[in-house]
Amino acid sequence: MMFKDFFGTEPSVRASAPGRVNLLGEHTDYNGGFVLPTPLPYQTHLEAAPAEGLEVYAENFGERKSRGLDEPKQGDWLDYLAGCVWVLRQHGYPVAGLRAYVWSEVPMSGGLSSSAALEVATLRALRELYQLPLDDVQIALLAQQAEVEYVGVRCGIMDQMASSVGRLGYGLFLDTQNLATRLAPLPEGYRVAVVDSRVPRRLAESGYNTRRSECEQACALLGVRSLRELSPADLPRINALPEPLNRRARHVVTENQRVLDGVQALEQGDIRRFGELMVASHVSLREDYQVSIPELDLLVEAALRHGAVGARLTGAGFGGSTVALVEASRYEDFQKGVLQDYPRAGFL
Ligand code: GLA
Repeated sequence: MMFKDFFGTEPSVRASAPGRVNLLGEHTDYNGGFVLPTPLPYQTHLEAAPAEGLEVYAENFGERKSRGLDEPKQGDWLDYLAGCVWVLRQHGYPVAGLRAYVWSEVPMSGGLSSSAALEVATLRALRELYQLPLDDVQIALLAQQAEVEYVGVRCGIMDQMASSVGRLGYGLFLDTQNLATRLAPLPEGYRVAVVDSRVPRRLAESGYNTRRSECEQACALLGVRSLRELSPADLPRINALPEPLNRRARHVVTENQRVLDGVQALEQGDIRRFGELMVASHVSLREDYQVSIPELDLLVEAALRHGAVGARLTGAGFGGSTVALVEASRYEDFQKGVLQDYPRAGFL
């Protein structure tokens, strides 16, 4: 089924946007830091036409929902589309609504930014439908604003930027302080393996918000506006902070450096080095940022045991997925080995 079968008319526009996996730079985006995500070859798609209010069929849920523009949000999937219409109207764009048929290849709740993909795809459809003068960075910012202010999740800008301006086959090196980007080619002959722990993210939202406020407390004690202002040279001051603020700030500062080093390693084709940085990132997320769980640690260890040059948890943590870099020729053995050690693993 598609828009036409469902609504009886042809759609006016089609739009898509991908999910992402983050290679390096975790929990740095809301600290003004560096990140290195890459888009996935899995997208969310919309076929759409203009309408008054919202009328949407979501194939993945087998559900049709409608809502007037003045009706409140309801804590469901339609909020993501309603939030996009809402945010455009907040900015004064004359957007009356949307009729859409939506389907997604991005796995949901695996920490692969299915929500950013839906928001960016929806905004792309609305941009075309209403001929809005928006570039891709503006689309990412609007998607983030919809998620923070309408849906109510206090996320950073990484996921929306990866979905909106990332390019398949490249790491998107993003400075979240000024949104400057550079594409770093992913190594040929290697595969980026995304392995789902199949552990639903537990307490992810409260854990995420606690980490954010711990970073703010660390800033206040260190007398900086953002942890971005600090570098590894500041580690002695950081280490002197009370627990757990010392750990939180140490993760962010060392993680920023790992992204800088990682981009350089990619550009120099030094894949071993890149793999070591991924592992160091995981250790820091486990020991200092404390957002890993035993299942993610097991998966990372299994990945390294079975030939990955690097592996780490990806996304916010507390469950969700891991990412590993594996030589293409060793991928099958890798997959078999990881499944032996962790039978629940879900390979993308
Ligand atoms: C989630 C958020 C991102 C980022 C990551 C952690 O994916 O949506 O903005 O903060 O967690 O790196």
